[in-house]
Amino acid sequence: MKKICIIGASGKLGQYMIRHCLDRGFEVTGVCRQRSVSKLDAFKGQITLFPGDTNNRDVIQKAVDGCDGVLTVLVPWGRKHYSTGTAQAVLDYARPEARLIFSCGWHITLDGKDVYPSSLKRDEKIARLLGRVTGMIDIDDQVEACRRIFASSARWTVVRGSDLEEGASQGLPVWSRHVGDPILASNMTRRVDFALFMAAALENDGLIHEAPAIVGCQTPSALAHKNSNS
Ligand SMILES: NC(=O)c1ccc[n+]([C@@H]2O[C@H](COP(=O)([O-])OP(=O)(O)OC[C@H]3O[C@@H](n4cnc5c(N)ncnc54)[C@H](OP(=O)(O)O)[C@@H]3O)[C@@H](O)[C@H]2O)c1
Repeated sequence: MKKICIIGASGKLGQYMIRHCLDRGFEVTGVCRQRSVSKLDAFKGQITLFPGDTNNRDVIQKAVDGCDGVLTVLVPWGRKHYSTGTAQAVLDYARPEARLIFSCGWHITLDGKDVYPSSLKRDEKIARLLGRVTGMIDIDDQVEACRRIFASSARWTVVRGSDLEEGASQGLPVWSRHVGDPILASNMTRRVDFALFMAAALENDGLIHEAPAIVGCQTPSALAHKNSNS
């Protein structure tokens, strides 16, 4: 793994991913909205930025050129198919042999076998409703983006984050194939460790065509079931 592109580089997850990739000695390119370029001033001279919306196909095409891996923050902003635009551009323009790692939440399901807590089902319902009323988010578009990724023959991994919190790294999160598995019950991951899992997945071929649901490795459920994770 030599050259990595981070799509959505200026957000909280994106900035942690930049740091993890630089620490691993990767050459890093990134895409972020023009208005957010200054958020990455701390990385000036260390990364190559391609300013633009993350669903801008021309920008994505240039940014992923020659990359061995692409880390994509999939976000359901607006009602203009932002997630599907982002995912499709990455699928279309990344090299066929590139490792493609996408972020999303537990609400995405690969095989329909996840068992969701009622609180999560309620939150998703509210997010869908608010999204429709305000026009600010489109959960169904993120679901469609992941459907397209799952259907593709690319070397993808879709990392499904639990609830997130800030704080110092606790180490690589543990994962399981299905929400509802006891190891995930604590439903909390440090954002810096979500990013760590994304970066580590680049070099873990065992995660190809998997949609790991992750949880912090120091959470009570992870510690209680640490020998049973996938
Ligand atoms: N938040 C959670 O609790 C949670 C839980 C589980 C999974 N996840 C997943 O984690 C990933 C990162 O989410 P996050 O919540 O932690 O946020 P984040 O890392 O701060 O990333 C938010 C991203 O969305 C962009 N963005 C913000 N407003 C936008 C707009 N109006 N139009 C277009 N782009 C916009 C940001 O770009 P700018 O820098 O340009 O603003 C940034 O790239 C996502 O894939 C999410 O599904 C989040």
